[in-house]
Amino acid sequence: MILAEPRSFCAGVQRAIDIVEAALERFGPPVYVRKQIVHNEHVVRDLETRGARFVDSEEEVPVGAVCVFSAHGVSPAVRRGAAGRDLRVIDATCPLVSKVHQESRRFAEERRTILLIGHAEHEEVEGTYGEAPERTLVVGTVEEVRALDLPRDAPVAYLTQTTLALDETREIIEAMEERFDDLRGPGSDDICYASQNRQNAVKAVAARTGLVLVVGSTNSSNSVRMVEVARDAGTPAHLVPGPDDLDERWLAGVDAVGVSAGASAPGALVDALLRRLAALGYATVEVEQTATEDIVFGLPSQLKGTA
Ligand code: F3S
Repeated sequence: MILAEPRSFCAGVQRAIDIVEAALERFGPPVYVRKQIVHNEHVVRDLETRGARFVDSEEEVPVGAVCVFSAHGVSPAVRRGAAGRDLRVIDATCPLVSKVHQESRRFAEERRTILLIGHAEHEEVEGTYGEAPERTLVVGTVEEVRALDLPRDAPVAYLTQTTLALDETREIIEAMEERFDDLRGPGSDDICYASQNRQNAVKAVAARTGLVLVVGSTNSSNSVRMVEVARDAGTPAHLVPGPDDLDERWLAGVDAVGVSAGASAPGALVDALLRRLAALGYATVEVEQTATEDIVFGLPSQLKGTA
C-alpha cells in the first residue's frame, strides 16, 4: 500500500468540526447546523449522536436557537433569513471560501460580469453565486465558455470553486482569455492549498500503483476530483465512502494499491481501509509525501476559549 500525504482533513474542515464541538460545549445541545457541516456522512452522524441537528434551511431552525453555517459558506440571503429569525449564528465558512465571496463583491462593485467556474448544484457555488446573483454566471466547461452570450469587450471576471481539479480549471480560464479582452481574475488562485496538495499527492501515488482508492463521500467535490486526477494519470481509481465499499474485484492483478482521502474524510476511515487491505494480503504501508501542511484556522470570536 502506498499512502498519499497530505490526505484527509484540511484546516477548513477541522475548524468546522471544532466549531460544532465547541458550540455544543458552550451552549449545550441541540446545536442546529445548516446543511452537512462538511461533506462526509460519518462526520455528520458522529456529531448527531453528540447533539447536533442538521437542517436543510435556516427556516427549519427554531427562532432564537444556535445555528452553525457549514464550511461551504452561505449567500447573503441566508444570512438575512437567519437574522430575521434571531438565530445565534456561528459561521464555520472556511476562510478560503470567504475570500472568494469577498472577490465576488469586489468584482460586482466594479460592475463586471462574474464567471464562476464550478458545479452549479454544489453548496459552495450556491453561496458564492448568491453574493451577486444578477451578474454571476456559473460555467463548468470550455464549451460553456465558448457559448456565453456576451460581447468580446464585456468587462468580465472569473472566480472558481475552491475544490476543483487544477488542470480542468486551467483549460476553462484559457478559453476565457481567448474569448474576452477585458478579463480579470482573483489576486491569487481560488483553488485552495488543500485541494492542490491532495491532487498532487494522489497523482504521485497513481504513478506508482495499479489502483488508487480515495476515501470520501460521493457529494465531496474535492474527493471526486482526486479520483479524476488519478484516472487522468492513467491509473484505475475509485471513491470509497467507507472500508465496506471496497470491491475486492478491483484488486485482481494489482500489486500495489494507492490510498488517499478527501479533505472531508476522517483519518479513522483510512485506517479502517488499510486494515481491510492488510487482511487481503497487502502487507506493507509506504508513505508518499509531496507536501507538508501546517495551516490552522482559529475559532470564531464567539467560541474563543472553548476547549
Ligand atoms: Fe477550505 Fe479548502 Fe478545506 S476551501 S474547507 S481548506 S478543502
